[in-house]
Amino acid sequence: TCSNINVKINVLLTHILGLFLIHVLFLICIQAHPDTEVHTISLYNGLKSLMPLWVQVQNFRKAIEEIMNQSPEGVHLLCFSQGGVICRAVLSTSPNHNVHTFIALSSPLAGQYGETDYLMKAFPNCLKELVYLVCYHGMGPEISICDYWNDPHHRADYLRGNTFLPLINGEKPHKLMKDWRENFLRIKKMVLIGGPDDGVITPWQSSHYGFYDASEDVVEMRNQEFYKRDTFGLRTLDARGDVSMCVQSGVEHTKWHSNITVFNNCIKKWLI
Ligand SMILES: *[C@@H]1O[C@H](CO)[C@@H](O)[C@H](O)[C@H]1NC(C)=O
Repeated sequence: TCSNINVKINVLLTHILGLFLIHVLFLICIQAHPDTEVHTISLYNGLKSLMPLWVQVQNFRKAIEEIMNQSPEGVHLLCFSQGGVICRAVLSTSPNHNVHTFIALSSPLAGQYGETDYLMKAFPNCLKELVYLVCYHGMGPEISICDYWNDPHHRADYLRGNTFLPLINGEKPHKLMKDWRENFLRIKKMVLIGGPDDGVITPWQSSHYGFYDASEDVVEMRNQEFYKRDTFGLRTLDARGDVSMCVQSGVEHTKWHSNITVFNNCIKKWLI
């Protein structure tokens, strides 16, 4: 029903150089669920979205915690693009979170390897084949894109030089892995949304935890090592029946959060 006033929805929209209509989704949510509280968290907008992700995660966690504390009955977390990667990190690093449904709207959850306008703005004259040199050996920790830059041709460098995604996805073992996995698995449901006409998330299947192998063929979620080894809880969540995938064609990256069809097909039913 649309009348559960006890559930709050957090809409976390952050985006690389994002200048988007973040309030569209906010308005759609309110319209669909008039008695539900909807919060948007507006941090790190515009160029600030390029700040290192661990810094952003820390501050988003604070903002989300505040809302969670006012909502003992639980919240949903709806996160767009880079925001989805941030939310994933917040979930793993928040021991007592009460997030029921985590919705990732076109987020590079398994990483990004592709030339996009955003990339070109961040690294002018930089070919995607060379970005790893910058990201894994140079200014990596200084810029958000590097935190989920996943070059399939430089796997060892990625594991060594990327201090964000390989930890979040448990590809690189670390001391807190077991805790992070437990924290993440407190969610009741994960909803993954993306599609082939996105144009920014590359490969677009990264929104569904698929990613390139060394030949740049896409390996789907269930054949990924992090899935098979259940490094962060994904296989457990899937075995529980709590991973829902929604693929929508004909949606460009900047249109996901203003498209009413996407909302009706992929999001609405989970905000109860
Ligand atoms: C909205 O989404 C639907 C699929 O859900 C797609 O067919 C349509 O092209 C999209 N419209 C826009 C303007 O993005």
